[in-house]
Amino acid sequence: MSEQRDVIEILEHDHREVEEMFGELETLKGAATEEEQSRRKKLTEQVTIELVRHSVAEEVLVYPRVESKVSAEEAEHAREEHAEAEETLQRLEKLDADSPDFDDELATLMKEIRHHIEDEEDQMFAHMRQVLDADELRTLGASVEAFKKVAPTRPHPNVPNEALPRMAAGPAASLFDRMRDLATGRGSDG
Ligand SMILES: [Fe+2]
Ligand SMILES: [Fe+2]
Repeated sequence: MSEQRDVIEILEHDHREVEEMFGELETLKGAATEEEQSRRKKLTEQVTIELVRHSVAEEVLVYPRVESKVSAEEAEHAREEHAEAEETLQRLEKLDADSPDFDDELATLMKEIRHHIEDEEDQMFAHMRQVLDADELRTLGASVEAFKKVAPTRPHPNVPNEALPRMAAGPAASLFDRMRDLATGRGSDG
């Protein structure tokens, strides 16, 4: 049990991974070769998968705890930011990497997510550390790790981002997302 990372360590680690992918995406901006463009598309898919799994885990497991024990206002604000970013992800998913709108949507996504990460880490997570004890943070961490393995991988902006509707839509949505990913090779390293 001592090996278990707490929920904040896990979520912040996810944030660093996303920022790293954003950094690489920025270096590929204006990519000219076909290889660079396909790397861009691939990275955008990977960042989408990671963001969706991370966000749904937060909505189902973390924000309800924040809402009841830390700050209902902070939980609500975070849900609103997720909803906005999920719309951006869905628009982005429909675009080719060489479409003129792709750069704009990607820039919007990066701006939204960087801002959201800052809010979470500077406010919500800091307040969680003050209010929740170490055991609770570790137990929540274990749940988040398990949940991410079965979470959806595609944006579903039509599903309200509250815990109950997310869970009700969850099994069907994740299975369908994962079957589509398998069929198309999306998110694989090849
Ligand atoms: Fe987060
Ligand atoms: Fe979040």
